[in-house]
Amino acid sequence: MKSNEIRQKFLDFFASKGHQVVNSSPLVPGNDPTIMFTVAGMVQFKDVFLGFDKRNYTRATTSQKCLRAGGKHNDLENVGYTARHHTFFEMLGNFSFGDYFKKDAIHYAWEFLTGPEWLAIPKEKLLVTVYASDNEAFEIWNQQMGVPADKIIRIGDNKGAAYASDNFWAMGDTGPCGPCTEIFYDHGDHIWGGPPGSPEEDGDRFVEIWNNVFMQFNRDAEGVMHPLPKPSVDTGMGLERLSAVLQKVHTNYETDSFVALLQAAAGATGVPYNQETPSLKVIADHIRACSFLIADGVLPSNEGRGYVLRRIIRRAVRHGYKLGQKKPFFFTLVAALVAEMGHAYPELVQKQTLIEETLKYEEELFAKTLENGMALLDTALAGGKTVLDGATAFKLSDTYGFPIDLTADVCRERNVSVDMEGFEVALNTQRAQSKAAGQFKAVTGLVYDGEASCFHGYTESTQAAKVLALYRGSEPVEILNAGESGVVVLDHTPFYAESGGQAGDVGSIRAGDILFDVTDTQKVKSDVFGHQGVVSNGNLKVGDAVTASIDLVKRQASQRNHSATHLLHAALRTVLGTHVEQKGSLVTFERTRFDFSQPKPVTPAEIARIEALVNEEIMRNDAVSAAQMSFDNAIAAGAMALFGEKYGDDVRVLKMGDFSTELCGGTHVGRTGDIGLFKIIAESGIAAGIRRIEAITGEAALALVQTQDSEIKALAAMTQSKPGELITKLEKLQAELKLAQKEVQNLKGQMAFAQLDSLIGVGLRTISDVKCVVGIVDGVEGTVLREMSDKLMDRLQSGIAILASVSEGKVSLIARVSNDLTGKVKAGELVNFVAQQVGGKGGGKPDLAQAGGTEPENLKSALDSTPAWLATKL
Ligand code: ALA
Repeated sequence: MKSNEIRQKFLDFFASKGHQVVNSSPLVPGNDPTIMFTVAGMVQFKDVFLGFDKRNYTRATTSQKCLRAGGKHNDLENVGYTARHHTFFEMLGNFSFGDYFKKDAIHYAWEFLTGPEWLAIPKEKLLVTVYASDNEAFEIWNQQMGVPADKIIRIGDNKGAAYASDNFWAMGDTGPCGPCTEIFYDHGDHIWGGPPGSPEEDGDRFVEIWNNVFMQFNRDAEGVMHPLPKPSVDTGMGLERLSAVLQKVHTNYETDSFVALLQAAAGATGVPYNQETPSLKVIADHIRACSFLIADGVLPSNEGRGYVLRRIIRRAVRHGYKLGQKKPFFFTLVAALVAEMGHAYPELVQKQTLIEETLKYEEELFAKTLENGMALLDTALAGGKTVLDGATAFKLSDTYGFPIDLTADVCRERNVSVDMEGFEVALNTQRAQSKAAGQFKAVTGLVYDGEASCFHGYTESTQAAKVLALYRGSEPVEILNAGESGVVVLDHTPFYAESGGQAGDVGSIRAGDILFDVTDTQKVKSDVFGHQGVVSNGNLKVGDAVTASIDLVKRQASQRNHSATHLLHAALRTVLGTHVEQKGSLVTFERTRFDFSQPKPVTPAEIARIEALVNEEIMRNDAVSAAQMSFDNAIAAGAMALFGEKYGDDVRVLKMGDFSTELCGGTHVGRTGDIGLFKIIAESGIAAGIRRIEAITGEAALALVQTQDSEIKALAAMTQSKPGELITKLEKLQAELKLAQKEVQNLKGQMAFAQLDSLIGVGLRTISDVKCVVGIVDGVEGTVLREMSDKLMDRLQSGIAILASVSEGKVSLIARVSNDLTGKVKAGELVNFVAQQVGGKGGGKPDLAQAGGTEPENLKSALDSTPAWLATKL
């Protein structure tokens, strides 16, 4: 039975049992920053299990795309070395949301696997495990399904802590979890391995095919287990493993869906096709993971999901290199994958070009360092070493782009271990150094244990306050005197402290005549604001009652830029695609700078569409609203959360009409119309896969447009045209200019040639029967001089000539010697005799040599000395 049929049969079976067939969700979980990838079928139903989300069905079935690489569920290092591990795989699952529980789940599983009209797998080939204390599951298997007691294995907490067990399943460190029962298939005693729980359980004989989880708890961040609203069922069966069973092959790589990929991998690396070659298995597995990840919007980078993708790509490329393929090859396998799986997953077909381009670029990038890194590794391991030192492992990662698991993979092949502790030490040292280098703000490191600052700046621009603390440098002081710079901490403030990409406010703090100019605001701690600046009048003391006022003009400009950034983010996702993710931003009163994931430059046409879309939203003049709510509610309201960001339980959701919803603590305009005009001023690449857009708004945008407009008008006036005709006019002028330059060149040549006759008349002399011409030509360049010398030699037939010309303060020289005379004088010697007297040097062939010089004032005497020099030679 082909994999495609098995998938369909499974869905049909559960549909016939009243389950809703639901599509696979993407590999990147929507708005769930607690988990990196979709690791199981239940991920898209997490909130349904927790009772936060309701569907109009209580039973569902899916075939789900899954990825287990990086994070809690990670099979990356096993891929290629076992019969059954993958990074990417398809999980068949059935789910009950507070509907049926253990009994029905087990009945369904058994019926589907062994029922004659379904898969008809012989019962004696199967055995099961249950959580050690789960007597109920044990009894169901034994009494109702008739599985003999010796084929039901109890597994306890075999991973060293309570509920840490192969038979207790959890999605992540937090979230839904529960005990499980697993079904194993016995591939036969010709294969090494023992049943689950035995010392040989890691062998490939007994392979787990289906896991039925009895979801009962929600584990919180402290590890406390809260019972779920209703006991539920979550199951998962690897399609690849099931295919191996039904196609009567031992490894997943021999199943129909892998054979074509292995063949393509063999072709692309130039080695014979062989299912046993680990490197081919690695490549065949990895092309699936990488292609599906890119199709779901992940791009290679140095952090988070993008880094996992980069690691998988580099691991595949290194295995290709091992097989002898040193050129980019991995991207060529996409076509084979699309042929194999494009039907079931149309996103592969839609994104084929993006996937190929991304992989090719990444391969080329890594190719630059792979060879040198491998050489370093070979040297480090020379002489039969059994441990790779941590410093080398770190250097490989830092300088050569070898992810640590890639280094470990190479070492494993050579039976060498990696000093992971040494690697961590080197890594941490570097992190500490770069962190220290990044801490340049004056407020970091201030010691402060007092009251927090209360921020009023969302609504107020001026605020009465009291000085809580003062610092001169990092030293706490009671008074800051006139002229001294330092940091002021207030109990209340309208000043926004830099965070979330928005720069800190500037303004003033006054108490009567005392004036402190605030040049920046930074957080001393999360709720303590430090106003940095200088006392420009009087002496400011701790305890002073002051009035703190922000520079409202600048703040309003910052707000316009910040709100425009949100609109830009949404517009980028609309125009370029949902792979666009924020990678960094900086908002000041002058401009906004936004970095985002995008594999190739944004075209001018796309820029124009993005600009138009943002301006449309501005003209819609939607209200901008901010609401404080729980993180879960914010996500439910559609707010975008960034993976890897830490959010508190309570978050601020910033909404602009229906166009943009983001978690944001920054300050914003009241309505989108306040932004005025939005104008992109630059687009550039800042790292592989990351682009940067810079833009301006409001008065700055207007000023730019006005300046450009007056420049265009001035240009039009200068060229006697109109703004709309400027381009045609300039093209015409350029063509005319080119023509004129050519004419000038011609005329110069003609004038120069006209000098030939007089040159021969005045400059010709005979030295020892040899005709010699020594002369100066007016204002011609090297090429004309050369042509003139050709003509001259035609006239002389046999003879020697040296011609010089001065143009723009520089001397050009050319020497010619007819072939019959090169035995006596070489053109190079002659030209150098003159050149060295005018501050230059030259060279060439015996019959023709050229030189330049910088001292035209010495040219005449140099030429005058030439006949005497020639006389000595002839
Ligand atoms: N969620 C369970 C697993 O992945 C079924 O094993």
